[in-house]
Amino acid sequence: MTEQSQRFSLAGKVVLITGASSGIGAHLAQVAATAGARVVLAARRVERLAELAARLADQGGEALAVPLDVTDRASVEAAFDAAQARFGVVDVVLNNAGIGQGQRALELSEDDWRAMLATNLDGVWRVAQCAAQRLVQADRPGSIVNIASMLGLRVGMGYSHYCTAKAGVVQLSKALALELARKRIRVNAIAPGYFITEMTGGYFDSEQGRKYVHDAIPMRRLGELSELDGPFLLLASEAGAFMTGSVLAVDGGQLVNNL
Ligand code: NAI
Repeated sequence: MTEQSQRFSLAGKVVLITGASSGIGAHLAQVAATAGARVVLAARRVERLAELAARLADQGGEALAVPLDVTDRASVEAAFDAAQARFGVVDVVLNNAGIGQGQRALELSEDDWRAMLATNLDGVWRVAQCAAQRLVQADRPGSIVNIASMLGLRVGMGYSHYCTAKAGVVQLSKALALELARKRIRVNAIAPGYFITEMTGGYFDSEQGRKYVHDAIPMRRLGELSELDGPFLLLASEAGAFMTGSVLAVDGGQLVNNL
């Protein structure tokens, strides 16, 4: 390994990924394992996590599947306890779990609003705080990577609750970066544009979806999950050692589209 590639390595690190049962989380779990991390796969659908853990083990990696509901403090603490018991203190967290059902503002119910904020904002806060408390207690450095969204920086029809939660994730990342810098814990966010996952579903296969991609995304295409690998490894590893409080857009230029 060259000195340069070594900086992006996660060898010896314990990386906990929330929402690792599908989409971006499952993909980046594989990336973290390939980069040498011991990976803690955390989500509600434990059977899926167990399959992924077995796949990573077959490839020579080390992974642990733990049940996690980010809306529940006891569940978050239990997931970190399990991670710590198996691998030691978690060094890197990918705060990725999220939900994304759209609903126009006039039709949003109290429950829809609360569920969105509870998962996409409160959950990120809870996991980040739990990780940081344990790092400080162990006097260890760490990195927290929060998955925000370009909808945390701009807005979209039918997503007032989602945009609000993701804007909260952007601000939370910066505020935690400030408070935790002297504790050697970095906090950064990634703001993805559109990637095909369970969350985006079949929309982009439709005529309307294809037209949207053509008109709204300067690169005129969706993201490939592998295009998140570099930003994630940069923020998670020593390569990003002087980065904290940053928000990396990975969106084919959508945030700079023509107004
Ligand atoms: P996904 O639906 O495949 O993954 C979300 C994961 O979070 C699932 O595994 C789900 O089970 C888990 N999750 C939901 N609620 C949870 C809870 N209470 N506790 C634990 N796990 C929970 O979708 P995707 O696209 O992989 O989403 C990952 C993150 O990326 C989300 O935060 C999403 O908002 C964000 N994002 C996705 C974009 C895309 O185009 N796919 C664009 C911008 C942001």
